Amino acid sequence: MKNQRVVVTGGAGFIGSHLVSQLVEAGNEVVVIDILLRGNKIPQEIFKKIEFHRVDVTDREKVIEISKGADIIYHFAAILGVDIVADNPIETMETEVNGMQSVAAAAIQNQIKKIVYASTSGVYGHLALEKSVDEEILVDPRTSYAMAKRYNEIYLASLFEEKGIHSVAIRFFNVYGLRQDNRMVIPRFFEQAAVNDPITVFGTGEQTRDFTYVEDAVKASILLGEKGKGFEIFNVANERESTIGEVADLIKELTKSSSEIKFIDAPKKRYDYEVGRRFGSSAKLENHIGYKPNTRLKEGLQVLIGDLMN
Ligand SMILES: NC(=O)c1ccc[n+]([C@@H]2O[C@H](COP(=O)([O-])OP(=O)(O)OC[C@H]3O[C@@H](n4cnc5c(N)ncnc54)[C@H](O)[C@@H]3O)[C@@H](O)[C@H]2O)c1
Repeated sequence: MKNQRVVVTGGAGFIGSHLVSQLVEAGNEVVVIDILLRGNKIPQEIFKKIEFHRVDVTDREKVIEISKGADIIYHFAAILGVDIVADNPIETMETEVNGMQSVAAAAIQNQIKKIVYASTSGVYGHLALEKSVDEEILVDPRTSYAMAKRYNEIYLASLFEEKGIHSVAIRFFNVYGLRQDNRMVIPRFFEQAAVNDPITVFGTGEQTRDFTYVEDAVKASILLGEKGKGFEIFNVANERESTIGEVADLIKELTKSSSEIKFIDAPKKRYDYEVGRRFGSSAKLENHIGYKPNTRLKEGLQVLIGDLMN
């Protein structure tokens, strides 16, 4: 994608800031809407080249105004993090549902060609399958966050039927990389390892996840913005299953930390979120855009450590 005017909601966040960097570097005009809940993660040299609005995505009139003349909207603004969502289910839902209404209104009024929406693999809920999950299986969202994401997927499907707005919903699987904060497991383990504190793993550590390197996730997101019409859902997954215990071991090894690895009970409020097993298939993605995430967890963590040292 180049020479496009691209609006990115949540562009100052972790994935958003990487997306904004890649879009600017490819020669696009980028407009960011963000309320900076986590500070501004956009690198300074990139920030100088974008248009930034500290605006709430639920403020429909402002989003419509700011989005005039845009070719595409990446809607990535959200409230997330297991503990934060558990503590704030109302705000989580409001941001998702009202935020999507603003983006939809902006797309309709300003004749914007496409919406790319950050959904989540959380929509699969507790489905513990013997194989990777694909987009065809029946979803089972359990949290306000995952329910709202699923609601918005269905909403986007109807927006195409009713208003002809093209869109994709991306179900990201545990994205990690530079500038992620310690709401998520990998940065939390890194922080503990760096000061040789115990690396605390919830439960047995046997639970699995599929970790996707952020640059891969963003590359897929940009290609999905360029290709395809109608409404489609895509997993963006690395297709490799790692236990949380293995992640702890790997981070300890790569950082040469003397931390012990401690298995502790998950706080009660996390209980319902503890999914035993999850990894995804990116076959549909690869068929569609000729690309799928391919950075192995160890490789991604090594790059991340290198970046953190600089
Ligand atoms: N990180 C992951 O592993 C992951 C996995 C699945 C889905 N996602 C989705 O990808 C998107 C980006 O996630 P992230 O990890 O970069 O999260 P993040 O928290 O780092 O970024 C979200 C950004 O949205 C902004 N925001 C929140 N509410 C807003 C509002 N009302 N108005 C304007 N801005 C608002 C925040 O200030 C923040 O900068 C989210 O939609 C998230 O649900 C992320």
